Amino acid sequence: MQMEKTRLRIAVQKKGRLADETFALLKATGLTIKENKGGLFYRIKNLPIDLLLVRDDDIPGFVFDGVADLGIVGANVYEEYALNNNNQRRAQCIQELGFSHCNLCLALPNTEGYADLNDFNNKTIATSYPNILQTYFKKGGISASTLEMHGSVEVAPKLGIADAICDIVSSGATLEANGLQNVKTIFSSQALLLKTTKALSTEKKDTITKLLSRFEGVRQSKETKYIMMNAPRSALPALTKLLPGAEAPTVMHLEGQKDSIAIHAVCRESVFWETMESLKTAGASSILVLPIEKMLA
Ligand code: PRP
Ligand code: ZN
Repeated sequence: MQMEKTRLRIAVQKKGRLADETFALLKATGLTIKENKGGLFYRIKNLPIDLLLVRDDDIPGFVFDGVADLGIVGANVYEEYALNNNNQRRAQCIQELGFSHCNLCLALPNTEGYADLNDFNNKTIATSYPNILQTYFKKGGISASTLEMHGSVEVAPKLGIADAICDIVSSGATLEANGLQNVKTIFSSQALLLKTTKALSTEKKDTITKLLSRFEGVRQSKETKYIMMNAPRSALPALTKLLPGAEAPTVMHLEGQKDSIAIHAVCRESVFWETMESLKTAGASSILVLPIEKMLA
């Protein structure tokens, strides 16, 4: 594969849970993606970026080898790949992306009892993550064998080829459908933005800086809300204290009403129903909470 000097190459999952959320993030970041169904690359029209569409398990390797400059992949896949390569880290995580949260868990058939980790001694555990699992067992002084499987790990106990499994749990539906119980979380995961440790051109570095600032803007605007309310002027100090993560609010007078004001503020933390109820108790009325589409600090 010929290396591009100016266009940044980002490895992303072709299809799957991670892919959907990755594309949603890239679109929210303002990238215009020119899809090329079945192709290996998608070109971005408004920034010098190409997306390399691959299996998630292949993403760390591509970033380690510099075939891709960046990669978006689950921490579980990154960790397993690094441990499998003598714990080398030829890619650094430059941002936790806050989506695709899931846990790597040990699960047993519902019919089995569970006391503690020692129950796994001398057992066979089916998993796609033998390195993470064995590292965890080693720390806990457990000796067990792993049966490496790629896909349909949850059927292993039913087939009689393993006593337990160690697999990704998100909603828990897969475990439930297969008569398995989650007994121990061994690794918590979310999507990571990886960057190769190979040297990059100035053009590519500039694109990464721009991209990171936009990712941060997307993350902030998700949590940040614009809040508006009316209130008696005397309630202003109490209301300001209640506004979550807001800097100096904007205060406006209300036409024809001497003692009432309108308060507008940007809240950088979640605004819950409880917060709105407290504002109301402190004197606010007509409380509106609006989403913020884009932010640039
Ligand atoms: C994981 C895991 C289960 C499923 C669990 O696969 O292997 O099949 O998700 O999710 P649930 O708890 O919501 O039912 P994943 O989607 O990560 O795909 P991959 O391992 O094949 O890449
Ligand atoms: Zn996978």
